[in-house]
Amino acid sequence: MGGLLKSSIARKVAMALSAFFLMFFLLQHFAINITSIFPDNGKTFNELSHFMGTNPLVQFVLQPVLIFGVVFHFVMGFALELKNKGARAVKYAKNNGGANSTWMSRNMIYSGLFILIFIVIHFIDFWFPELNTKFVKGDWSGMHDGEFRYFDELQHKFAAAWRVALYCIGFVFLALHLLHGFNSAFQSVGANNKYTNGLKTFGKAYAIILPAGFIVIALFHFFSH
Ligand code: HEM
Repeated sequence: MGGLLKSSIARKVAMALSAFFLMFFLLQHFAINITSIFPDNGKTFNELSHFMGTNPLVQFVLQPVLIFGVVFHFVMGFALELKNKGARAVKYAKNNGGANSTWMSRNMIYSGLFILIFIVIHFIDFWFPELNTKFVKGDWSGMHDGEFRYFDELQHKFAAAWRVALYCIGFVFLALHLLHGFNSAFQSVGANNKYTNGLKTFGKAYAIILPAGFIVIALFHFFSH
């Protein structure tokens, strides 16, 4: 693979493909999480979470692929950034600011870094306890005190104001990262045709609506305590 990814075009395409994959994951993650605010006391959310958490295809095929996708995107992102920096042997005498690039496009590495911090915290909050219950304790029942535990755990996590604030900041950075990332990824795979404008509009909507929706979920659980 090293050979294949040596050219910077190949790297950009690989970056774009992993980005599309993560955007697709984010959409399904959102679709499941939004059910946690349905007025059914977490019933739908619990059932979907239990299905996702115990289905062998999801657990042993999709989840490892997802984790690989997340790590790949970060590693390639850093590699591209370092390479781009290194390529400018002579530093720009003057940063041209907004003249030839947007603020976000020049700062993908920083929004990405903050999302990385968010993901580490998010894994500590939700994913590691889940792995512990299933793979260390060997408990695949999903139950606690005679009920599914997922909805309760979610509400419990969003009780602390500092965590909700941190998550919301993470979602704002996610929006900024996606605003530039979506168009950039389309450019990297060479999409430039009569649909380009439509895709750009779709990308903008996606980059704003999804993170805003995550903010709604977090605030909903915080205020329903
Ligand atoms: C209010 C917003 C969110 C909630 C309530 C939430 C909830 C959860 C929960 C409960 C899990 C554990 C799933 C399991 O049992 O394995 C999880 C896992 C995960 N979340 Fe989130 N999440 C949110 C936002 C995000 C965002 C914005 C991202 C990405 C930028 C993200 C990325 C992940 C990843 C990569 C996993 C691990 C893989 C998986 O288990 O599917 N989450 N999340």
